Amino acid sequence: MKIDPWSSTTYQDYTRLRDEFGIQEFSEDLWKQFPHPHRLLRRGIVFGHRGFELIHDAITHNKPWAILTGLMPSGKMHLGHKMVIDEVIYYQSIGAEIFIAVADIEAFATRGYTLKETKELALNEYIPNYIALGLKPERCRIYFQSKHQDVKDLAYILGKKVNWSQMVATYGFDNSTNMTHIFSPLVQTGDILHVQLEKFGGVRPTLVPVGVDQDPHIRLSRDIAQAHRLYNVTVTKDNKIGVFVKVDKDVDKLLDNAEKILHQLKFVDLKKISDYKAIYIQKATKKDIPVIDELLAKSETRFDGYGFLLPSATFHRFITGLTGEKMSSSKPESAIFLSDSLQDARKKIMNAKTGGAVTLEEQKKNGGNPNDCMIYELFLYHLIEDDIELESIYKSCKAGEQMCGNCKKYVAECMERLLQDIQEKRKTADRKMKQYLS
Ligand code: TRP
Ligand code: SF4
Repeated sequence: MKIDPWSSTTYQDYTRLRDEFGIQEFSEDLWKQFPHPHRLLRRGIVFGHRGFELIHDAITHNKPWAILTGLMPSGKMHLGHKMVIDEVIYYQSIGAEIFIAVADIEAFATRGYTLKETKELALNEYIPNYIALGLKPERCRIYFQSKHQDVKDLAYILGKKVNWSQMVATYGFDNSTNMTHIFSPLVQTGDILHVQLEKFGGVRPTLVPVGVDQDPHIRLSRDIAQAHRLYNVTVTKDNKIGVFVKVDKDVDKLLDNAEKILHQLKFVDLKKISDYKAIYIQKATKKDIPVIDELLAKSETRFDGYGFLLPSATFHRFITGLTGEKMSSSKPESAIFLSDSLQDARKKIMNAKTGGAVTLEEQKKNGGNPNDCMIYELFLYHLIEDDIELESIYKSCKAGEQMCGNCKKYVAECMERLLQDIQEKRKTADRKMKQYLS
């Protein structure tokens, strides 16, 4: 199995996906303490993560952290795209600084749009929707990849530590893949890591909330961040904690610097072995590693390093399209667009695939199947905030007390309210747009 970020694969078995790719489970203890956890977290729709512990630590200790995510301006924005922005808005409400990339280079490279078209889509469609959904302008910047010199510079420079065979193994590129496409994952790495440059707030935990199809980019970005570090803090084979200098320049200075930092952290009993470019810490445990690593990372900029902390990521499941396939802009009947008229949305809902039985009688007897119902997914992902109400729909469907016709009517009403609200707010979004763009 391979995850291809540009294909239209639908994934069924998320647990298998998680295990196969070494994605961690996004378990309750990672988010339960947060203020008013978002429904996408509560309901297990965000099902996996890499390195979220850093974010948990930042949130619970009130330390600065950032969100960076991005969307391709390709086609119209639909409910699938909305999820990422919903997550961003939640994290903004609990203190994250926000960066959102308009992935126009990627859309240009992989989707056949011109940069002029992507610009129009971003300005007339995506960004107004972000604002209408409730994104606040404070501590938030939205930028275009093609216009961001620091992001593009990083993409070039960081590419030094990736080779072609790694790119082929990760993305399946071949001799006919165009060069801009080949380069676009590096631009995404530039997106993800630029927020840790001094100019944009410096070294700090960064969360990238995305759909699971983006995992290859996350792995690449984490590999690249790691590869550019000057220090590595790790457990040695004989179970000691060691700080290792990874480069050959300024080794003594780097060891002295690490020693000073370890003293500041009150570690005594240090054993410095210059020939191994290492300092062993006798009394440290595994739990100390993140604290040590963070301080070392922050000091790396003094030695011409970047000091990138590994970017963290969360992965969400995809909402199924109304037709039962992937929700996709290229199949309008599968998707509800945020700009759909109320009538269009209602029509799509009425035609949607449900988990209902073939006959009413059978459904009364055996119940419906909300686990395989596009209508129920709309409630689950977008329309019902109250967990108790959601559960009661689930139960009465299973018990055969709820019929699909009524259910659809209710979904249509909720959807109309949501769309009306977004469309109303979008009217004033244009005026506010400047506050978000850097
Ligand atoms: N590749 C993402 C997509 O397909 C868009 C994107 C660009 C992105 N840069 C990013 C996502 C940085 C997360 C982080 O939609
Ligand atoms: Fe889906 Fe509602 Fe029908 Fe149950 S009753 S299968 S939740 S549409």
